[in-house]
Amino acid sequence: MFEHVNDYPVDPIMIGADLFAQDPRPDKLNLTVGIYQDDQGRTPILEAVKRAEQRLVETQDSKSYRALTGDAEYCAILGHELLGEAFDAGWVAAQTSGGAVALRVMADLLAQMPNPPTVWLQTPTYGNYVPILNAAGAGHQALPYYDPLRSLLTFEQMLDGLKAARPGDVFLLQGSCHNPTGADMSEDQFTALLDVLEARGVVPWIDLAYLGFAGSFAADCAMARQIANRFPECILCITLSKSFGIYRDRAGALFVKTRASDHQRITRAVTAIVRSGASHAPDHGPAVVRTILQDADLKALWLRDLDQMRQRVARMRQRIVATEQEIFDTERLSYLGRQVGMFSLLPLDATQEAALIRDHGIHVVQGGRINVARLGDGDVGWLVKAVCGLLPTSG
Ligand SMILES: Cc1ncc(COP(=O)(O)O)c(C=O)c1O
Repeated sequence: MFEHVNDYPVDPIMIGADLFAQDPRPDKLNLTVGIYQDDQGRTPILEAVKRAEQRLVETQDSKSYRALTGDAEYCAILGHELLGEAFDAGWVAAQTSGGAVALRVMADLLAQMPNPPTVWLQTPTYGNYVPILNAAGAGHQALPYYDPLRSLLTFEQMLDGLKAARPGDVFLLQGSCHNPTGADMSEDQFTALLDVLEARGVVPWIDLAYLGFAGSFAADCAMARQIANRFPECILCITLSKSFGIYRDRAGALFVKTRASDHQRITRAVTAIVRSGASHAPDHGPAVVRTILQDADLKALWLRDLDQMRQRVARMRQRIVATEQEIFDTERLSYLGRQVGMFSLLPLDATQEAALIRDHGIHVVQGGRINVARLGDGDVGWLVKAVCGLLPTSG
C-alpha cells in the first residue's frame, strides 16, 4: 500500500545541504544551514548551558511527566522575560518542543475553529510556515514583504494587501532578525502595521526565533511587548534554539493572550491539541533555560555569550561591506550591513544563483538565503568577489 503515498516535497534547506554534501570540490562553502557558527566553524555549547546542565544532573530528582502544557514555572519565567509587566494570568501558556511545535499547535487550533480565520504571511518568510499551516489544514494568504532583487521592504504593498483581511483573521510576523531576509521593519513601519491590524480587527501572531541577535535580548523583545500591550488577543511563539544554542534540545513555548471569558476554553483547546499531537514537550532544554533565567550569575554569563554571537554576526556583515568597497569600490552589498541576524538574501536571480554554486562552490538556500554566521574571515573575499562578479557594476 505504500506505493500510494504521495511524493512529499523536500525542504529547500535540506536540498541545499545535500547539494553541498555531493559537491566533490575541496574548496566549497556551505552557507545553507540555519545554525550559528563561531570563528572556528563550531557551534559551541554555551558555558551557561553547560553549568545549568551540570546543576540539573545534580539536583533533578524525577523524570516523571510534566503537565501537557509543560512546566508552569518555565512558562511564567519566560513569559515575564519576554513581556515584562504585559505578561499576567490572562495568558494561556504551553511549553513546546521548540518553536516549530508551538507554531503547529496554534495552526491546529486555528484550523479547527468553526469559521477558520485566514493566516496572512509575509513573503518571503520562514520556509516552514506554509508546510506547518498546510499540515494543520489552516488557510493562508501571502503578502509581499521584501523584494530580494532590490533588497528592499515592500512595506506599502504589504499594508495594501492587508485591506483584504477580515476581522478575526491572523497576521503571522517575525519578531526580529527576519528569516530569510534579515530585513526588519523600522519602528515607524511596525507602529503603522499595528495601526492597520487594530483598525481591521486582525489578530497579531508574532514568532520569535532570534532574540538577542539584533540589538540585545531585552531590546529584541520590544515588538512582542508592543503587541502584548496593545491587543486584547494575540499569539506569541518562541524558540530558544538559537538564543541559547540548544537546537537539538527543543525548547520553545506558545503564549496566547485571550479575553478573560475565553481563557479556560483556550487552555483546554491548547491542552487537547498538545495531547493528540506532540503530547508532552521534552523537558531538558526548557529546564536548562529556566535554570539560567532563574540564576543571576548564569543569566549574566548567557547574555555575555549571546552578545558575542550577535557581535560576530554584525562583524561579518560589516566585513562584507568593507571588502566590497576595498576590492570594487562599489556598494552593491552594502544593504547587508544594514540588515540584522544570521540570514540575508543575495540579490541574485535563479541563473546567477546557479552560477554561484556551479562556478564558485558557494552553496546557498534556493532563493539566495545565506547564513552570514557560517562565514570565516577567509571566506568573505571569496563570497564578495563571486557575488559582485555576477551582479551589474552599478547599484
Ligand atoms: C522564524 C523561525 N521560527 C521558528 C523556527 C523553529 O525553530 P525550532 O528549531 O525551535 O523549531 C525557526 C527555525 O529556524 C525560525 O527561523
